[in-house]
Amino acid sequence: MENLDWKNLGFGYSDTNSNIRCYYRDGKWGALEVSNSNQITMHMAATCLHYGQEAFEGLKAYRGKDGKIRVFRIEENARRMQSSARGILMPELPVETFKEGVFKAIKENEEYVPPYGSGASLYIRPLLIGVGPQIGVKPADEYLFMVFVMPVGPYFKEGFKPTDYVIYREYDRAAPQGTGNIKVGGNYAASLNAGIRAHNEGYSAVLYLDAREKKYLDECGPANFFGIKGNSYVTPKSQSILPSITNKSLRQLAKDMGMNVEERKVPVEELAEFSEAGACGTAAVLSPVRSVYDADKDIRYVYGDEPGEVCQKLYEKLINIQYGCEDDPYGWVTIVE
Ligand code: PLP
Ligand code: COI
Repeated sequence: MENLDWKNLGFGYSDTNSNIRCYYRDGKWGALEVSNSNQITMHMAATCLHYGQEAFEGLKAYRGKDGKIRVFRIEENARRMQSSARGILMPELPVETFKEGVFKAIKENEEYVPPYGSGASLYIRPLLIGVGPQIGVKPADEYLFMVFVMPVGPYFKEGFKPTDYVIYREYDRAAPQGTGNIKVGGNYAASLNAGIRAHNEGYSAVLYLDAREKKYLDECGPANFFGIKGNSYVTPKSQSILPSITNKSLRQLAKDMGMNVEERKVPVEELAEFSEAGACGTAAVLSPVRSVYDADKDIRYVYGDEPGEVCQKLYEKLINIQYGCEDDPYGWVTIVE
């Protein structure tokens, strides 16, 4: 692993030593198994292939200055996967099994956890899929939970550099009462057309509006959105956005910095009132927004070429906790023993 170019890693798949698997059969979860294969075999009528019975998670492990490996708010991911499972009628995986699976995946691939100071981290991808056959639209009888990992760099290749976002009213990623608030594959399939168009037109991601009225901000394709207005951290409240663990953490850190936190409907036009804006998520960390272009109205909201002061402070506070460089007053971090 010594010759991996840690500092120049992008956000992409790469093979590691092994991954973790656990099957749900006959109404119960089996034991966690280690596999050296990056392939899975399943029935051609598996419900994940036909009817989208698929949920995933994303979290990261960070190597600290002290050499220790830390994961951030793992129980939140475990619980969100349970919520995703309930949303599309899959069995819930116990929180403890989720944690054990993640820890095992990290330990099996310890040498892939990037060194401190490289700016890289180990991305962890838990996955829950229906593998039992059905051809009527019904939930499967059998499920597979997996965890695989890979070292990654920044999600947006610019890293902590402001980038451009775009609003297109002709696409929705999730319906108002649909599955936007859980992490299921269908939401991401629905976002591909708009996301690739945005990339081709030079934007980092789409900033979606609420699907019902197209009046309020929802979130970005792979991350939540926030704006800074005076001394307030403003972030959309919506039933169709993913409850981001990073955003939840930033809200707490903003409060601790003496800011007001407003989680509410955010009208599109309010983009003009922010002094800074950001996208936040596990992969995106905190990615400052340089501009948002409303393509339908031909209006450009501009925040600047350099990260704003508040984004900078929040970003540093967050990564310092994640890498174990600062106190962790809320117990967000777990050391992988
Ligand atoms: N929104 C969407 C659609 C996402 O896919 C993600 C990534 O997980 C997020 C927001 C950020 O969530 P978190 O901070 O929990 O990673
Ligand atoms: C994450 O931030 O973990 C995500 O899942 C976002 C994206 C890679 C889908």
